[in-house]
Amino acid sequence: MSSRKKPLVFITRKLPDAVETRMRELFDAELNIDDTPPSREALIDAMKRADVLVPTVTDRIDEALIAEAGPQLKLIASFSNGIDHIDVEAAARRGITVTNTPNVLTEDTADMAMALILAVPRRLVEGARVLTDRKGEWAGWSPTWMLGRRLSGKRIGIVGMGRIGTAVARRAKAFGLSIHYHNRKRVSRETEANLEATYWDSLDQMLARVDIVSVNCPSTPATYHLLSARRLALLQPTSIIVNTARGGIIDETALIKALREGRIAGAGLDVFENEPAVNPKLVRLANEGKVVLLPHMSSATLESRIDMGEKVVINIRTFFDGHRPPDRVLPGRL
Ligand code: DGY
Repeated sequence: MSSRKKPLVFITRKLPDAVETRMRELFDAELNIDDTPPSREALIDAMKRADVLVPTVTDRIDEALIAEAGPQLKLIASFSNGIDHIDVEAAARRGITVTNTPNVLTEDTADMAMALILAVPRRLVEGARVLTDRKGEWAGWSPTWMLGRRLSGKRIGIVGMGRIGTAVARRAKAFGLSIHYHNRKRVSRETEANLEATYWDSLDQMLARVDIVSVNCPSTPATYHLLSARRLALLQPTSIIVNTARGGIIDETALIKALREGRIAGAGLDVFENEPAVNPKLVRLANEGKVVLLPHMSSATLESRIDMGEKVVINIRTFFDGHRPPDRVLPGRL
């Protein structure tokens, strides 16, 4: 590409106005103003024409799609932290660089994980519904009504102690929870000391001993159904599980069964195995007050979306300036 020609950048979804405006200033940007997810055909067409594809978590950028890329397509600059929707190996084989937007949604995601950690045992959604469903009619306070379980003094087991897991741990500690974690690698001594965290190299052993499980690891082939039926069976019947990472990390069918049979007390889920479809059995459990469901919104703040956009812009600019983009995703690194 000549230094004067602006790269043709195809953006698959509507982004905040400020991000789209910046993209139009810098690039020959094709925007998606009405936010309709592009069809497979539209994605193939974009792969053939664009210099850069800016997909997000709702697009499946698999090997077959990557095979359609024209020789001009050299960068997939994903508007996402997770990159499980992209076949990074296939892209690397075609000489296509992949970038993501890490760091900027850590705090927002951890806030929402904490919100679910509070909402499930304290019956927040159920309580709010009492007033709205009965149009404000309520019999009043009673000593034995709407009893939840106390958070302070309980143990949380964090599965995946990366940036988001650590941010969840900081919040959980402030709420009086004791921190336990399982991770491929132990975190630094300093972080462990600050969080007063206990490391478990055995996930099975940790699961059997904690009251709350927070899933914060990336979705990779190795973490698919990491919380399997066998592992869910290790949890105590009073325990709850919260997932703000990816649906496929928990075996959803096994989770539903465990909740139904009272082998787990509750769940807070922001992500699902077959998004955007949500298993009707989970919706039924939510209506019965056993689970709290959110529509994949844990990172949904205007600030995070603008910061993600800024990262995409920096990754594209750096790449076309001939440098390694800061958020390059290397194959086999997840
Ligand atoms: C991401 O960017 O990976 C998130 O799932 C969005 O919340």
